[in-house]
Amino acid sequence: MDSNKASLLLVDRRLLHRERIKMRLETVYNVMDFAVLADALRYARLRPPGAIVICEDHARGEDFHFLQSLRLEPAFGSLPIIIILAEENPAQTARAMRAGATTCLAKPYLPSVLVSLISAAMNQVCERSWEALPELAAAALKSSVKMFHAVADGIASGQPVLYADINAGCLPLLEAVNGDGVGNILQGVRQHDDYTYAHSLRVAVFLSVFGRNIGLSANEQGVLTAGGLLHDIGKTSIAALLLNKPGRLTDSEYAVMKSHVTASVHMLKEFPGLPEGVLVIAGQHHEKLDGSGYPNALPGSKLNELARMAAIVDIFSALTDRRVYKPTMTPEESFALMTNEMSTQLDMPLLRYFRQILYDTHIAQPQPVLLDG
Ligand SMILES: [Fe+2]
Ligand SMILES: [Fe+2]
Repeated sequence: MDSNKASLLLVDRRLLHRERIKMRLETVYNVMDFAVLADALRYARLRPPGAIVICEDHARGEDFHFLQSLRLEPAFGSLPIIIILAEENPAQTARAMRAGATTCLAKPYLPSVLVSLISAAMNQVCERSWEALPELAAAALKSSVKMFHAVADGIASGQPVLYADINAGCLPLLEAVNGDGVGNILQGVRQHDDYTYAHSLRVAVFLSVFGRNIGLSANEQGVLTAGGLLHDIGKTSIAALLLNKPGRLTDSEYAVMKSHVTASVHMLKEFPGLPEGVLVIAGQHHEKLDGSGYPNALPGSKLNELARMAAIVDIFSALTDRRVYKPTMTPEESFALMTNEMSTQLDMPLLRYFRQILYDTHIAQPQPVLLDG
């Protein structure tokens, strides 16, 4: 059982189909599979899962009343339940939704679509939980996720977002960072299932803290925050199954992953009024001082302070992020690895400074918020 993966119950009477879906979903989730819905629900009462996926003939007739009664139990009122129907059927879909399904999917379907649906349903639950956080942190999380989606939607529809709107969307995050809300923000995003958003938010927070503590102006801190949130925006066009793929990537998969940098820059250049600093963060956060980075293998002499800060924060965030395919590192383990194994790649004085800032501001402490990430 991998503690970094959310757990998922899969119910399907048909062994072959069940095993096929299970195999695909297991790259992203801890999957327990059942042939009978009643068995799955008994299990769910003992170990509440992140979501339940119910296939075909379970979505007919007598099994619907199980769902209805499950929904009445407080622990399962908001549990994401995804029902896979044998075919497109509006009446059956309506019936499933009335019985308590969060969403339905009809066969034939692509595994990536199922993963997206599960993820979206889990994220709704995570985002609703933000209401319970202190006001500053809740506002920062809500505005940042809204802005992140607005940017992704704008890119997908060919209608770039004005930087003035992005800047306004980042203000609550800036206020929360400057108002001691970092711990709550990191805690709130911990269970979010959209890795690109969660990672980008963490990079935005760490860059913002870094900028503030090295004495940048509020305006410059705003550029760092927006740059952090948008630095991997090119990943929004990469399939979740590749983004979450465990183990080694093939050469062509790695090439697709690396292409997110040029994709991000290409997308962001269309945004009216975008400061150069945001483009530097997006375009150069994978460059390294010894020229071993990508996409342009720039030497250290071509990498300004912003690019160097972005590289440090991006790696620190990736190492301490909760990821389905790797163990989460503590801040100290991350700093040790970056110091010992990346001394020719990263700006060491800046790295030491960043580490000091995180400890001085009590953001890096041996507490669950950062350990689990
Ligand atoms: Fe990146
Ligand atoms: Fe990144």
